[in-house]
Amino acid sequence: MTETITLDYANCLSERVGDHGIERDALHHAAAQMSQLTASLNETRGTGWERWRDLPFDPMRREHVDPILKLTEELLPRTENLIVLGIGGSALGNIALQSALNPATYNLMPRDQRNGPRVFVLDNVDPNVIAQTIDEVKRVDPKLERTVVNVISKSGETAETAAQFMVLRSLLHQTIGESYGRHIVAITDPEKGTMRSICDREGYVTLPVPDGVGGRFSVLSPVGLFSAALCGIDIERLLDGARAMDDRCSQPDLKRNPAAVLAWLLIEFTRRGKSNHVLMPYANSLYLLADWFRQLWAESLGKRFNRAGEEVFAGATPIKALGTTDQHSQVQLYREGPNDKVIGLMEVARFEREVQVPGDLDVEPLRYLHGRSIAELLNAEKSATAYALMESQRPNFTIHWPAINAYHVGEFLQFWMITTAYAGLLLGIDAYDQPAVETGKVATFGLMGRPGYEEWREKVRRSLEGSEDRV
Ligand code: PA5
Repeated sequence: MTETITLDYANCLSERVGDHGIERDALHHAAAQMSQLTASLNETRGTGWERWRDLPFDPMRREHVDPILKLTEELLPRTENLIVLGIGGSALGNIALQSALNPATYNLMPRDQRNGPRVFVLDNVDPNVIAQTIDEVKRVDPKLERTVVNVISKSGETAETAAQFMVLRSLLHQTIGESYGRHIVAITDPEKGTMRSICDREGYVTLPVPDGVGGRFSVLSPVGLFSAALCGIDIERLLDGARAMDDRCSQPDLKRNPAAVLAWLLIEFTRRGKSNHVLMPYANSLYLLADWFRQLWAESLGKRFNRAGEEVFAGATPIKALGTTDQHSQVQLYREGPNDKVIGLMEVARFEREVQVPGDLDVEPLRYLHGRSIAELLNAEKSATAYALMESQRPNFTIHWPAINAYHVGEFLQFWMITTAYAGLLLGIDAYDQPAVETGKVATFGLMGRPGYEEWREKVRRSLEGSEDRV
């Protein structure tokens, strides 16, 4: 039987955490409601903004994977540096895949030990990072002959990605000359938008951000798959895992559907005042999956209005933490501070590498560590934290990973996206829009002098200037 990720939610129940937990009966009573929501999601899947559900399935899967594999085969022999440009949903998935599935030291490894080029994801407009990255890329490849820029923007109008792209495009053009376009792979809307028209005009190779797939639900589309495939990640296994998880999360029976269980628990906890949701993997390589989760949960659920137009101020605050590191930083707060959190732990059964503590430092207080594996210590600390949280009546759950590989990462991604879809339905909000992000975008256009946005420039200046409240 294929191993799968599993969700252990026992420590969310009142049997374990008293009044701060959920009564088993309440969960049983939710079964009928959740099975209705499952039917509703099964009906809307693949339509509107839920086209992401079909990414792991044919024909969508083959439509994307085949061109990606062909392109990576062509690029691999001539690529030593891959620079990915994007932000938000156009970057977090890529970063998470690289850090989960490639070694922490990937960029430092010699070429013959890596499965692809070095990869640099620029997901901010920090001038230091952009300049330092360019320096490092040019140190290894001064003529940029072995460098590929992968720009990802559905709209092409996001100021951060547009500015990064203009910097990198110009650098490639000046260094390489007229054939510079061979060094650009753009991932954008297949039909419309500013990036689309640039690509059409300049003839870049493009891959689609499929219609009906929003940024934070796009990791299993070319947005996440292209850079992953070029850097040696097995994208077929990734999609196999997502597909298998999708099957589990299409089950009407609540007991067999992990996304339905987790969504119901987390939204019920939110209603009961526990609206801070921590995800704390006990594995460094899974930490940036928690970062990806943070955007998904925050942007999808944080909404002022419900679908009926009533003001609800819905949502929960996602928090990322790392075990064991944050046991020495956050757990004091989680156990003794306000009881307003649900803490999700992640545990890995088998690590790829084995490290053992040697027995040659023989001092009595440390002798218990002799011959023990580092993974055993890590997982003992995870169990100890789950126990300590439970003991102070702090609800927590554990996502068990048999191992860290592409299949289980695929399962994890689809699991959380479906959990988010359920959560959106439970809250009665639209999980697929982000109206509040707009104000910041247009205010930036105004401040940067984009024609048509002059009134924003004035509005922002007037509101912020002249403050004397500064020390
Ligand atoms: O999740 C989202 O929709 C956002 O985070 C977008 O991905 C982000 O704003 C980038 O947008 P674009 O791809 O249009 O540049």
